[in-house]
Amino acid sequence: MSQQPIVLFDSGVGGTSILKEIVELLPKENFIYLADSKNAPYGERTPQEIINLSVKNTELALSMRAKLIVVACNTATTNAIAYLRQNYQLPFIGIEPAIKPAALHSEVKRIGVLATKGTLSSELFKQTSEAFTQGIDVIEVIGKGIVEAVEGGWTKDEKFIKQLEEQIQPFIHQSIDYLVLGCTHFPYIIPQLKHLLPSHVKIIDSGRAVAKQTEAVLRKNKLKTSSKTEGQVQVYTNADNVYHVKELVKEIHNVGVKQMDF
Ligand code: SIN
Repeated sequence: MSQQPIVLFDSGVGGTSILKEIVELLPKENFIYLADSKNAPYGERTPQEIINLSVKNTELALSMRAKLIVVACNTATTNAIAYLRQNYQLPFIGIEPAIKPAALHSEVKRIGVLATKGTLSSELFKQTSEAFTQGIDVIEVIGKGIVEAVEGGWTKDEKFIKQLEEQIQPFIHQSIDYLVLGCTHFPYIIPQLKHLLPSHVKIIDSGRAVAKQTEAVLRKNKLKTSSKTEGQVQVYTNADNVYHVKELVKEIHNVGVKQMDF
């Protein structure tokens, strides 16, 4: 059991930001990453469509002998993880926006959340936000076109940066001091956000916390590998072009990227 892979899935390449954090913390584990780029973005889909896609990815992960699944997508977590946990036996780790630390540390008591429509309109997000933000103003912005830009590899284009600048104006006008990234694609635009936002704004994503949570759940369920050597990381993408995801994961040791229809 312990040599079986940890499988991550996302609506494309964004969850590789989470994969990198988990591989760094657990280098001896074997990993499979499913990049469902063909169906991105999930954030514009109905909750039922997001559940159906998450079930499809979970079934594939199980056919690959997953011992634990990381739903490396905020939109799939907020809309589908309860369904997955109810219907499958293995442990699932989800990605929730890091609202709690941002709310705790905000000095001006005003934080921003940049996420997809699917995440911001979900019940789970509303509950988390309400639970941790008593006395805090939360400025929510739906990130439009960001997932597409990360998928397409045009996050450095002038036109995209202009659109991004327009979208984040509410954060600037309302003087937030923490910005929470509520989508696993968004860590790939941190340099652009840092350039556009006032320098005192701190940007936080969930990568490190998710890696620690994965380690804790493996330990609790006695699923940690006993291997003494570095594991393998296999990425499968259903995009036509594997080049882009190859570029994003090239820093991971022992990584392979293959095209697969799923
Ligand atoms: C999307 O597919 O729309 C974004 C994925 C995410 O929320 O992490």
